[in-house]
Amino acid sequence: MKTKIKKQIFLVLVLFLLLGLVSADPNSIIDYCIADTSSPHYISNGPTCLSPNSACSSHFTTSALSKPGNTTANKFGFSVILTTNLNLPGHRTQGLSMARIDIAPNGLVPPHSHPRASEVTTCLKGEILLGFIDTSNKMYTQKLRPGESYVFPKGLIHFLYNVDKNSPAVAISGLSSENPGTQIASISNFASTPTMPTFVLEKAFKIDAQEVNRISNHLKG
Ligand SMILES: *[C@@H]1O[C@H](CO)[C@@H](O)[C@H](O)[C@H]1NC(C)=O
Repeated sequence: MKTKIKKQIFLVLVLFLLLGLVSADPNSIIDYCIADTSSPHYISNGPTCLSPNSACSSHFTTSALSKPGNTTANKFGFSVILTTNLNLPGHRTQGLSMARIDIAPNGLVPPHSHPRASEVTTCLKGEILLGFIDTSNKMYTQKLRPGESYVFPKGLIHFLYNVDKNSPAVAISGLSSENPGTQIASISNFASTPTMPTFVLEKAFKIDAQEVNRISNHLKG
């Protein structure tokens, strides 16, 4: 009986721990926090705050998303500019961020996930085919035109593709974390530092070492 109760308490604790891991950013107990990014305490859970007396309107504004990013800087043909505590120090502790996504003609934001945020994206320009996969491996896809929005549930793998061969596409996203984090599935698997053991990739993807090398070389550098 006693061990049964202990087991139950243990299970409840594990459940709370798991829920804690997937919960949104912690609720703020102050009006705002101007991220003090020069603080030596810039560790673990983000920067400390400036004194509210030093706060001014410019801490809450940014033009970071006003210009297109460079879509030729990576081999997939996309650029994401995100608001951060550096370019928008007033969004610290607010549990949100914004992203500007530029996609070259036929460019792809490859399958990726944000471990700490759900995302709602609105197409501003062009025609974007996007989709996500849920944890039962069900695929959801949609074509977005300007003014239309789509939700990517938290932590799930999703992609965006500019179907237009001639013109760039633009989307803007809101994310439910000040630091959403991004993992691109292909890069994480085949171009990590140090690299994943080859035998793991061989077995995981049912391919041989040569194929592992080929994919890695394509994705690195
Ligand atoms: C965009 O990135 C490419 C590749 O890194 C570079 O050659 C090019 O000069 C960049 N363009 C601009 C406008 O910064």
